[in-house]
Amino acid sequence: MATYRIRHCERLQGEVTVHSAKNAVLPLMCASLLTREPMTIERVPVLKDVETLVEILSECGVNVRRNGPELTLWSDEPVSPHSETLLSRMRASVLVMGPLLARTGYARVALPGGCAIGQRPIDLHIRGMQALGAQATTTPGSVTLQGELTGGNVYLDFPSVGATENILLAAVLAKGSTRIENAAKEPEIVDLCTCLNEMGARITGGGTGTITIEGQKELHGCTYRPIPDRIEAGTILCASAMTEGSVLIRGARPEHLRAMLHKLTETGVVLHEDSAGLRLSGRAREPVHVRTLAFPGFPTDLQAPLMALSLGLKGTSVFLETIFENRFMHAREMARLGANIRIEDRIALVEGGRPLAGAPVTSPDLRGGAALMLAGMLAEGETLLSDPYGHIARGYENLPAMLRSLGAQVEEITLPEEEVRG
Ligand code: EPZ
Repeated sequence: MATYRIRHCERLQGEVTVHSAKNAVLPLMCASLLTREPMTIERVPVLKDVETLVEILSECGVNVRRNGPELTLWSDEPVSPHSETLLSRMRASVLVMGPLLARTGYARVALPGGCAIGQRPIDLHIRGMQALGAQATTTPGSVTLQGELTGGNVYLDFPSVGATENILLAAVLAKGSTRIENAAKEPEIVDLCTCLNEMGARITGGGTGTITIEGQKELHGCTYRPIPDRIEAGTILCASAMTEGSVLIRGARPEHLRAMLHKLTETGVVLHEDSAGLRLSGRAREPVHVRTLAFPGFPTDLQAPLMALSLGLKGTSVFLETIFENRFMHAREMARLGANIRIEDRIALVEGGRPLAGAPVTSPDLRGGAALMLAGMLAEGETLLSDPYGHIARGYENLPAMLRSLGAQVEEITLPEEEVRG
């Protein structure tokens, strides 16, 4: 089991380069199902989720060639994946549904897994496919969709990132035009639209609430470099702000991080944007008030890392989580370090500035695990963070090494099972 030893850290200093965005790369990999020509994705991060999706796509009949950080994918006659265990390991596995259905007229997928941060249904994905003319049959563990797709109008009750992506991935090969209303506006959506357009799709409005897609008979391959990971960059920003650090995050795109940068500025740190990336210095002092929202609002994926930062800020920080109904699991673990956090339904109240002391803690999910790594850096003494499901490595490429390169004392260690809390 992955276990991390974290020691108190005084001040982060130096520079790191942000990796490509996990949540951009995963849908791009699924886009390879749309064409028989090779698609090459550059700067693919080394992540468990990427590995799992490679396994799923291989089951779909996709050929995969790795060349260092490049991943080339192509498939002559893709089919639906059969291993339910694989699909249950990650949420993004549901994104094979749209392209398989569009290219072959049939898709069967087991209900996806991923972090247990909420119920995470896929009703909006299915309704989107139905609006494009697919027939859906659901069983308790899976959904089957079939039919030739024609364009249609889709209104999303919520601007779901995954549903917008899945519908885009289906509509690009549907006959006629499709409109997605109340579409998600996240940078990862814009990235997917850009890549699909490079493959020959005709999509306009990516990054706005209304996306229009003129379906094409076929798409072709392309070589594509995904956007940098705004959540990884935001996590490092929190770590730096927490320790009164002075850090340059190379490649970070400020326009993807506006809400986060505003919150950080409110704490008192100094941010500077230039062509190299984002520089942060100074001391975070003031507590924060945060409401998670769809983009361009404050990202739910940075709620936990910002909560780690708030543990060191005197006063009451308030977090309102509006996207997922169970995304405060890290708070209970932070309490083991001495944090004073009260949860009332979807609100977390953090009384910051209390002394924290190292203790054994467990990673509850991906971002919560990263936040606990940060909290451990704030605590006196040593924190042992166990990650029995390997959540952190699913979404961060060697986060301990990134933090170490800035002066933190975080290392992955091997402990006998009985020494770590499960
Ligand atoms: C994506 O998940 C990201 N995952 C998540 O990142 C991120 O937290 C989330 O978007 C929100 O930004 C990937 O991109 C792979 P949603 P997704 O569909 O697509 C409800 C991380 O840590 N909903 O926008 O699953 C849903 O339950 C991860 O990297 C429905 O009700 O998010 C949730 O409350 C975790 N029905 C809300 O919408 C549906 O059919 C937002 O979910 C779909 C979603």
